[in-house]
Amino acid sequence: MLAQDVKPQALIEKAFPHSNKCKRCHERVFEEWETSPLSKSIHSPAFRVSLDAYLNSPGGKDKMLCFRCHAPQSREFPDHAQLFVDHVRSGDPSLDGVACSQCHLIKQVDRAKHPPEPKYEIGSKTLYGPYKDAVQNLAHQSMDLELFQKSDLCLNCHQSVPSAANLGKANDLLGNWDRSHAVKSGKECQYCHMPEQVGESANGEKKRKVANHTFPGRVGTLRQDAAKLDVQTKIDGNKTTVTVKVQSLVPHNLPATHPAWATVVLNFEVKGKNLKTVFADSRVYGRTYADAKGQKTVFDFEAVKVLDDTVLKPEETRLETFSFPTPQDTKTFDVEAVLNYGPISGPAPFLERVEAVSSRGSQDPVFQPIEIVRRTDNVPVNK
Ligand code: HEC
Ligand code: HEC
Ligand code: HEC
Ligand code: HEC
Ligand code: HEC
Repeated sequence: MLAQDVKPQALIEKAFPHSNKCKRCHERVFEEWETSPLSKSIHSPAFRVSLDAYLNSPGGKDKMLCFRCHAPQSREFPDHAQLFVDHVRSGDPSLDGVACSQCHLIKQVDRAKHPPEPKYEIGSKTLYGPYKDAVQNLAHQSMDLELFQKSDLCLNCHQSVPSAANLGKANDLLGNWDRSHAVKSGKECQYCHMPEQVGESANGEKKRKVANHTFPGRVGTLRQDAAKLDVQTKIDGNKTTVTVKVQSLVPHNLPATHPAWATVVLNFEVKGKNLKTVFADSRVYGRTYADAKGQKTVFDFEAVKVLDDTVLKPEETRLETFSFPTPQDTKTFDVEAVLNYGPISGPAPFLERVEAVSSRGSQDPVFQPIEIVRRTDNVPVNK
């Protein structure tokens, strides 16, 4: 940390107490949050490198842009944008990104704005949360706000991100989630992504209903509820046709398309004699963007146009057909369909920098696909 930065950081942390302060009494919550992607929102290698890509891009003038969601306390300190940039560049993790007070000081979310905007109450000792009957403590006052059980709280960061040209509805992250069956049956984001459990809310207090702060998403067991695969095979002499039914169970877009390299990939393979692959193909669900020069770009901050949108819409069922020569010299063959989150993609220098910045190098999790669901069928060949 640079010496002259200490004062602004102290100033910011006076308004938005650091998560370490909360850890003292909310150990369970802290430990859950610490394992979540949210705790790395300004420290992940992919963020560090894409922030630089943004700042070095022709449109990268607003230093605050990324921090509005990745470290939202920055909204209240527009004069200190450089402090946030310096922290990210130096890899110094002492500044919080999306941590405790960044959510629990939100008093209101204005959904009339696009994207919706949070209203913070700065300088108050009151923390907002779900309980009407929070036990008193010496560190802060507590007040219940319905907002904490509503999707609105999440939407201010998860609904849409700014791009180089206003892409409007074409670039919203979640799609028509509010018309999904899940939402109509009363399920807010928290229902799935902060599931209810029983435990201590603060150290030593009596057990009660609490909310899981690991924010299950790409990581965690929620993934198993993301999609179903069904496979139907039709052999017609020398030609075989397989129809894969991809059923998204997610009440919003899958994937949510920020960062713009986020994709879900269906890998299809046919294995014949000795399990040798005799046919392979894939389908990609995601968005392709063009920049101002008409070139494809993996950076949404450069996007002026959506070239192609194959995202799985809320609760959509997609049929994919694959045709191939019926495998010969075998009594049966295997048909395998796997749905994955795709790894990071982009220009080689960008990927090399992500690798260089990561303490795990090429083993960083962003370079690995994450399996969502797999389906294998053994098909007899009737001769
Ligand atoms: C202040 C902005 C902000 C708010 C408010 C916010 N999020 Fe997020 N969320 C983020 C950012 C930024 C990330 C990405 C962190 C990373 O991976 O670096 C994220 C990541 C996530 C993930 C992990 C996604 C994945 O790919 O696995 C889930 C799940 C999630 N948020 C759910 C929620 C829910 C539920 C709420 C509301 C209770 C919420 N978020 C409110 C900014 C926010
Ligand atoms: C409107 C809020 C918002 C803005 C502005 C925003 N992000 Fe994000 N960002 C998110 C959310 C929410 C996620 C998690 C998305 C998910 O997992 O579906 C995320 C995820 C990411 C990720 C993947 C997770 C990680 O940490 O590796 C990267 C990289 C990223 N953002 C970079 C940027 C950059 C660079 C900018 C500025 C050009 C930016 N974001 C601006 C909300 C935002
Ligand atoms: C001195 C101990 C202590 C510290 C430090 C502390 N809390 Fe608390 N907090 C408590 C206790 C005790 C409760 C009540 C728990 C209960 O009712 O089961 C509580 C309740 C809460 C609630 C629920 C409020 C409601 O009405 O729903 C939130 C949110 C919260 N704390 C957030 C924080 C955050 C964020 C920090 C750090 C900035 C923090 N706390 C620091 C002791 C503490
Ligand atoms: C992305 C926003 C977000 C972040 C970050 C976050 N919380 Fe929460 N927190 C919530 C929401 C929303 C609820 C209410 C969930 C519900 O009741 O469905 C909640 C509930 C709580 C509660 C009461 C229930 C329980 O699980 O004990 C406490 C205490 C709390 N948070 C403290 C913290 C602390 C401490 C941190 C940091 C380590 C933190 N929160 C980080 C959004 C957040
Ligand atoms: C009925 C359950 C359910 C509800 C409600 C729900 N989600 Fe999801 N969400 C899922 C499932 C299932 C996945 C896919 C598996 C996974 O990655 O967790 C997912 C994935 C995600 C991801 C990460 C995947 C990606 O493509 O980046 C984010 C971020 C997310 N949801 C945010 C939200 C937000 C914000 C809301 C509220 C507007 C919400 N979700 C409401 C079930 C739900």
